[in-house]
Amino acid sequence: GKSGYDHYMLKEIHEQPLSLRQCLSGRIDELDGRITVEELDDLSDHETVQFVACGTSYHAALYGAQLLRAAGVAANAYYAHEYATSPAPVSTADLVVGVTQSGETADTLSALREASRRGAETLALTNVVGSTAAREADHVLYIRAGPEIGVAATKTFSSQLIGVNLLTSHLTDRGVKRRRDFVDDLRGIANDVQAVLDESEAAAVVEEFVDSDAFFFLGRGLDYPVALEGALKFKEITYEHAEGFAAGELKHGPLALVTANTPIFAVITGEGEAARKTIGNVKEVEARDAPVVVVTDGVAEAGRYADHVLEIPTTDERLAPLLANVQLQLVAYHMAAHLDREIDKPRNLAKSVTVE
Ligand code: F6R
Repeated sequence: GKSGYDHYMLKEIHEQPLSLRQCLSGRIDELDGRITVEELDDLSDHETVQFVACGTSYHAALYGAQLLRAAGVAANAYYAHEYATSPAPVSTADLVVGVTQSGETADTLSALREASRRGAETLALTNVVGSTAAREADHVLYIRAGPEIGVAATKTFSSQLIGVNLLTSHLTDRGVKRRRDFVDDLRGIANDVQAVLDESEAAAVVEEFVDSDAFFFLGRGLDYPVALEGALKFKEITYEHAEGFAAGELKHGPLALVTANTPIFAVITGEGEAARKTIGNVKEVEARDAPVVVVTDGVAEAGRYADHVLEIPTTDERLAPLLANVQLQLVAYHMAAHLDREIDKPRNLAKSVTVE
């Protein structure tokens, strides 16, 4: 049942501290903090990784590709349906990772089969034990989020983000002791999510925006997949027009849509160049009188430029996007609740898309 929550989606959002602990359980050595993923022990070394996925899982893939590139691995993320139509060159030296919560998405299965046919080693990053992807791929890494009933993926996305971090650690520092601070932050992620759930002001913030024309979500770097995911979740359950943009694309077109009646959610985590540039984009939309909500860890002091701030705890910059996403899950949920939508079963959508 829904354990007292109004919807499965809200229950699953609140289950995240638990599902993240399950995902990490036994995968960080208690003594030396080394990340060890037994299922990946017989995975070969790879210098190129291609992710294939759809929807929310594609956003986790985009994030994963960036993590790997930052660690020196040539990695890309593809929509599985596009990949199946126009596959990237692949060889036996490449790893193709299908990210799929259900393990049954037809497009993702086709892309994995195509990669396999052309000689690549394949890995399924999935939630469902014994699913088709898990059975067909050469390797499987389970995210262990537990069953997800709500059509809108929430806890499984967070666990996918941790899953691709585990994969990145496995591929890039096998045998090397992990930097302490990252492992400490990884161990603390469940508590940090709990803090967001306990303190989020998302419900109050969105109430102001019920009569808006459209909703835009911006992010750069690792915050970009979070912006896309924030918009996807928002459109799925509120039926309002929402779009996610790479913050840098704004002035190449989308800025034409920005008015005083298009709230902007800007995801700004970490410090440095990316955050500074996105703050610049926030100023551009403010000059068009758009209301701005900044989702931030406060490191770059981005909150100063916002009408509202949705705060997250500070953590490793690779993990902060996961926390920002929890705020955006709550944004979508509370807006849909205000609008009295069918949150657990959005119109026209199915939990698992088993036709191409
Ligand atoms: C969004 C959502 C979908 C799925 C997509 C892929 O909330 O649930 O976008 O993410 O259909 O599904 P899986 O991960 O099962 O392959």
